[in-house]
Amino acid sequence: MADERILVVDDDPSLLTLLQMRLRSMGFVVSSCGTGEDALSLAQEEPFDFAILDLRLPDLDGLELMDELHQHQSNLPVLILTAHGCIPNAVQAMKKGAYGYLTKPFDDKELQESIDKALTPKRMSQEIHRLQTLMNELYGMENIVARSPEMQAVLQQVSRVAKTDTTVCISGETGTGKEVIARVIHCNSLRASKPFIPVNCAAIPEPLFESELFGHMKGSFTGAHQNKRGLIQSADKGTLFLDEIGEMPLALQSKLLRAIQNREISPVGGQVSVKVDVRILAATNRDLEQAVREGHFREDLYYRIHVVPLWLPPLRQRREDIPSLAQFFLKRSVQQHGKTVKGFAPEAMQRLIAHSWPGNVRELENMIERAVVMSAHDLLTAEFLPVSTQESSTPGSLQPLTEAKEAFEREYLKGLLQATQGNISRAAQIAGRYRADFYKLLKKYGLHPSDRQVSPSSHV
Ligand SMILES: Nc1ncnc2c1ncn2[C@@H]1O[C@H](COP(=O)(O)OP(=O)(O)OP(=O)(O)O)[C@@H](O)[C@H]1O
Ligand SMILES: [Mg+2]
Repeated sequence: MADERILVVDDDPSLLTLLQMRLRSMGFVVSSCGTGEDALSLAQEEPFDFAILDLRLPDLDGLELMDELHQHQSNLPVLILTAHGCIPNAVQAMKKGAYGYLTKPFDDKELQESIDKALTPKRMSQEIHRLQTLMNELYGMENIVARSPEMQAVLQQVSRVAKTDTTVCISGETGTGKEVIARVIHCNSLRASKPFIPVNCAAIPEPLFESELFGHMKGSFTGAHQNKRGLIQSADKGTLFLDEIGEMPLALQSKLLRAIQNREISPVGGQVSVKVDVRILAATNRDLEQAVREGHFREDLYYRIHVVPLWLPPLRQRREDIPSLAQFFLKRSVQQHGKTVKGFAPEAMQRLIAHSWPGNVRELENMIERAVVMSAHDLLTAEFLPVSTQESSTPGSLQPLTEAKEAFEREYLKGLLQATQGNISRAAQIAGRYRADFYKLLKKYGLHPSDRQVSPSSHV
């Protein structure tokens, strides 16, 4: 919103001064003059964001001036000032392309509202552009910590596929950075200035899935009060990130496959299909091949999304990344929380490197943020950092209530996954939670339905 420029043209010097004062106090940069000719030469010098023109000027009339200005800058919003009672003039102004009109005398509120309304689309697109640039900087390759040869290899693959429209399926345990990599691919692709739409297939309740993804037409089911665009359509020209794709209901998998193959979707209750141009990135922490064998995942969809498979190794298999990641998160947390922590005590770093990190990078990130917040010293000492996974969950050990509760909850969830063979819906039912809430709980502990096959010792 900085430095929006307004042109004001009126031959009444006192009104001109008044308008100038008002607009400057609203934060605008104002250029003003009393004739059409002067206005045109001002407009030649630099484009304006908005113009306020009196209908009657000594040389041109306001509408002619508007025409001339539009010849140079067709999208310039123009507000015409008319005398009291001149409704026909106002109507004519609107017909000829004025954004709006104000009848003299007008108050500050009316003036401000008209300008704000006219400038909203431009401000919004500037904001979107700003956020997009921010995201592109955040997910530039240089912001991804990748010291280990394993992650270097991943980044090499990423740079190879980023510029293409290839479908990529990113797999890896929870918290290994699958979403980060998906965003990096998007931000380094030719679609970087278009939307990146993440869809967490595990978090959308099953009955809503189809309409969320494909959209729906008004009246197609109870509660469909309006037409709704689906997430696939929102990703048009950009990237659709299907996170936890292994959790997608079977019935929808075939609809998705059709959408990917035909590049068109049909909204629920709609008669016609809509063309879409999206690049698909998918992620999973489930063994999809096994899901195919067990009949939970369609084989044809599996092959369709596995054009380029990318696997992110768990943190315990790339311990070289731990020190750089730890420093990266420390620096960020220090900035966020205004602390003075400068680094790690040697035994603290040793402990970080030795830990098994079942929750991978996310666990490390959370652990460091907590340690930074708790620490009163310049160096982070080992007291705020993890003891080994087994120790921390030993029942009856001397630990604060919150930690003991968390340790219990983690074990309980693991047991539940074991008992239900990783069936989230059943496990959620037994736990008395909604599926989406249950899923969040698993995420909190870095657990995944497939964890039933992973014995705790394999973490070390
Ligand atoms: N290489 C990395 N450099 C910097 N930060 C990272 C890196 N990898 C992961 N992170 C951070 O770790 C956290 C977890 O990453 P992300 O959400 O991408 O994991 P995920 O594999 O999608 O997890 P889940 O399976 O639970 O959804 C994020 O906050 C992310 O910013
Ligand atoms: Mg994720």
